[in-house]
Amino acid sequence: MERQRLEGKVALITGAASGIGEETVRLFAENGALIVAADVQDELGEQVAASIGSEKVTYHHCDVRDEKQVEETIKFTLEKYGHIDILFSNAGIVGSFSSILQFDFDEFDNIMATNVRGTAATIKYAARAMVAKKINGSIICTTSVAASIGGSDLHAYTTSKHALVGLVRSTCSELGAYGIRVNSISPYAVATPLTCKVLNVEPHEVEAHSSYEANLKGVVLKAKHIAEAALYLASDEAAYISGHILVVDGGFSVVKRSTTSFAPVYT
Ligand SMILES: NC(=O)c1ccc[n+]([C@@H]2O[C@H](COP(=O)([O-])OP(=O)(O)OC[C@H]3O[C@@H](n4cnc5c(N)ncnc54)[C@H](O)[C@@H]3O)[C@@H](O)[C@H]2O)c1
Repeated sequence: MERQRLEGKVALITGAASGIGEETVRLFAENGALIVAADVQDELGEQVAASIGSEKVTYHHCDVRDEKQVEETIKFTLEKYGHIDILFSNAGIVGSFSSILQFDFDEFDNIMATNVRGTAATIKYAARAMVAKKINGSIICTTSVAASIGGSDLHAYTTSKHALVGLVRSTCSELGAYGIRVNSISPYAVATPLTCKVLNVEPHEVEAHSSYEANLKGVVLKAKHIAEAALYLASDEAAYISGHILVVDGGFSVVKRSTTSFAPVYT
């Protein structure tokens, strides 16, 4: 039998009850990982874990905004499995549409506390555990196309995802000395509860709209594609990749067509 790509590796995944996180829990489990799936949606998280099997996945409540809960979740992972090889710091929120002219700073603070502070807390405690056990670990954060361009998403969300790129690059610089890799994945629009809620539409409508706006035609972006990118960065196949922002957007963020009539058509 072919060796599984994450055989025996221990992974902590945040935002694991839904969307990209849930899909990644499933793919990592198929590839031999032992997983602690963390989220604030306890019922959904328990269902995800139960549908895969308690020998592979354990659900654990963790609100990443609370440093104590993050510390406790890493402690739980260490008590259960002895060490941690992979952190997929994926929990995130998008917020609601808000003009800068009527900016809501309570919402801004909550988005920064979840997306940036929460991710920093998970890196802090996962990296401490990796350093203590001399594990050449892999840390992966979920950024967004909104981490590199403006105008594709909301102000607070875009700000938070730009900040995450700084966090990834900065922590990669320190943690490289310990053999720990830090990378991120920047997805284009995926039909998850996050996007459906902010746009107030059904998944097929998100996909129809994002496919229309997309640069790459003939493929509909799914959470599975993002999970596959996470699997690659988590695996030994990415052994020398660190500080990288793996953009999974079919070229969306690097292509600008001023008018379609100028787009070359090759026959
Ligand atoms: N869906 C997209 O189009 C898209 C595009 C780019 C980036 N992303 C990013 O992908 C990540 C996953 O989002 P998704 O699309 O799968 O959305 P989702 O809403 O399906 O999943 C996000 C999960 O994070 C959890 N979460 C929220 N706040 C939390 C907190 N404080 N502590 C712990 N868990 C918390 C939610 O309960 C949820 O289960 C996010 O970081 C998001 O910003 C999504």
